[in-house]
Amino acid sequence: MNDDVVTIKNRLGNRVVIPAHHYELDEVVDMADFLGDSYKLAVDCSKTRAEYIVFGGVSFMAEGAALLAGSDQKVLIPDPQAGCPMAQMITGEGAKAVYETLSARCDRQIIPIVYMNSHADMKAFCGAHDGTVCTSSNASKIVKRFLDEDKSVFFSPDFNLGINTANDLGIPGHEVVTVRRDGTLEGADPSSARIFLWDGFCHVHKTFTLDDISRLRSSHPDIQIIVHPECEEAVVTASDYAGSTAMIYNTVKDAAPGTVWGIGTEYRFVARMANTFSDKTIIPLRESICHDMSRITLEKLTVSLASVESFIKDKGPLIHPVTVPESLKKDAKK
Ligand code: 13P
Ligand code: SF4
Repeated sequence: MNDDVVTIKNRLGNRVVIPAHHYELDEVVDMADFLGDSYKLAVDCSKTRAEYIVFGGVSFMAEGAALLAGSDQKVLIPDPQAGCPMAQMITGEGAKAVYETLSARCDRQIIPIVYMNSHADMKAFCGAHDGTVCTSSNASKIVKRFLDEDKSVFFSPDFNLGINTANDLGIPGHEVVTVRRDGTLEGADPSSARIFLWDGFCHVHKTFTLDDISRLRSSHPDIQIIVHPECEEAVVTASDYAGSTAMIYNTVKDAAPGTVWGIGTEYRFVARMANTFSDKTIIPLRESICHDMSRITLEKLTVSLASVESFIKDKGPLIHPVTVPESLKKDAKK
């Protein structure tokens, strides 16, 4: 099966690229032309001139690539069921209704900021309301920029990234409102609140607990704990470092040989780092897997690539093309 992907890719040459997220199965990572976190993949996809981008990742990432793709490029996802439950916890329409309610109750202008892990309708909603898209690497910088302009912020969909960012910026709890998915508000007085947080979550990162950290600290006294900011507030506070997938990778890569690391993010990525950086001891906080990422398999990758060949040869159907409605493109691109 491995040969099949390689053979088809060789025949297609530079007409096709395979980007893959760090959380993908090894068999997919092995076939990737480039690997990255959500942000790096979006940037690298926007630079490629390949006509066909066969995406190893979940649907919001493939949609992001389709958003930035040129008119002569096509994006495919080997399994359209590979979704992100967190991205699905808010829609552009739902967010607009909540935003209007919050705006009516808040004394300041509210700027919507949406995490990269969201669908194109959410990105379009933000673009249409003077808002922007952030990643886990630049959330603090972006939120700070708007707070410094004396605006308030509506942050979605990940509550944990939002609260960890608020803590990073020293925003006190009495200026934070939680917006529950049923529309109820908790916390600060909405009229003076600085940050409104949607209560979405990533089940992969929410799983890590304080016990996981204590267990590792007692068995490895020299351990340094590093976690993704989609983890719970208490877990991030108890860790030595928190940062995006890229930040975790670079921190561990650049660490001194012999150092010991406890890592709280997707298990496959941690296991791969343990193999790659074998001069360090790398231990997962626990085996938490993103099963949506696992939906992309070598077999499905082969089917998608074969469909590209048949499309070029005699206009056979592409499996599975990803498109963004024209009505959303302009605002989402902003
Ligand atoms: P990053 O890749 O942006 O760090 O996000 C983590 C994640 O959960 C991807 O789905
Ligand atoms: Fe979504 Fe979490 Fe999986 Fe990333 S790891 S795709 S945020 S469920």
